[in-house]
Amino acid sequence: MRALFRILSLLSIGVLAHAADGDAILRADCAQCHALSGSAAGTLEALRARKAPDLFYAGNKFRREWLGKWLQKPARLRPTGFIYLDYLKKGEKADIVDAASLTPHPALASAEANAVADALMKLRTHDDLIAKEKLEPGTISRAMGEMVFDKFSGCLACHLIEPEYGGVTGPELYTAGARLQAEYIASLIRAPHAWQPKTWMPNKHLSDANIVKIVRYLDTLAKENARAQP
Ligand code: HEC
Ligand code: HEC
Repeated sequence: MRALFRILSLLSIGVLAHAADGDAILRADCAQCHALSGSAAGTLEALRARKAPDLFYAGNKFRREWLGKWLQKPARLRPTGFIYLDYLKKGEKADIVDAASLTPHPALASAEANAVADALMKLRTHDDLIAKEKLEPGTISRAMGEMVFDKFSGCLACHLIEPEYGGVTGPELYTAGARLQAEYIASLIRAPHAWQPKTWMPNKHLSDANIVKIVRYLDTLAKENARAQP
């Protein structure tokens, strides 16, 4: 018993000694690519000049648990990398995305990833937009969700809903339910330009009821996808 206490206290000293400073890591290793403060790009040129997605509203966008895991093992979110504007301009087809030419995202060790995730959750630009969304928990059948997402709203044209199925202009959405906060998803669908004035993501002027259906559908997809993982 005493030996166990000794090991536990040694372990906790070790953890304290290596306590990672999430804000410092963000400034040192992430700010060269990601905006950590400021407002979204106001012109197409500024949008195109970005090297990576904005993170100054990360705390209103991501789920904390997802951030901690993804930063240790970053899987690709945008099938064409972060170059969808160039990509669209050239008018290329989905099937010629050269995944091998895309550089992998830097990965962090567990302690650093969790410290950075905590620091990111404090970046909360646009609390006002999030406060407008009131979502009740609920479920939807896959068929009904698919109908609203693919057929009524045309979202499939730009987003993957399975690793090999859908459009490639925007980020994949088969893990979005696990990655993004429900209120963020609802708010982005309702008012994409309030988040990113120059985004390609269109406002489809969906009803509240259809926004809720899509939020629940993305949640269903993420759960199915998690089950499909090894
Ligand atoms: C060399 C540039 C570069 C550096 C350095 C970098 N990132 Fe990224 N990051 C990217 C790109 C490009 C993407 C988009 C990846 C994708 O969509 O698959 C991205 C995506 C992300 C995302 C998901 C954003 C979203 O909106 O989908 C997070 C979170 C993130 N990075 C955090 C970090 C953190 C934390 C660091 C520092 C430890 C970091 N990044 C360092 C280029 C970079
Ligand atoms: C013309 C292409 C296009 C269409 C159509 C489209 N989107 Fe998007 N969507 C995008 C792009 C591009 C982004 C990335 C936005 C950004 O980072 O500025 C995006 C982002 C998103 C995100 C956030 C994903 C993330 O990880 O950041 C969600 C959720 C989303 N779209 C849902 C939808 C839904 C629901 C519809 C249908 C109502 C839809 N989109 C229709 C292009 C599109």
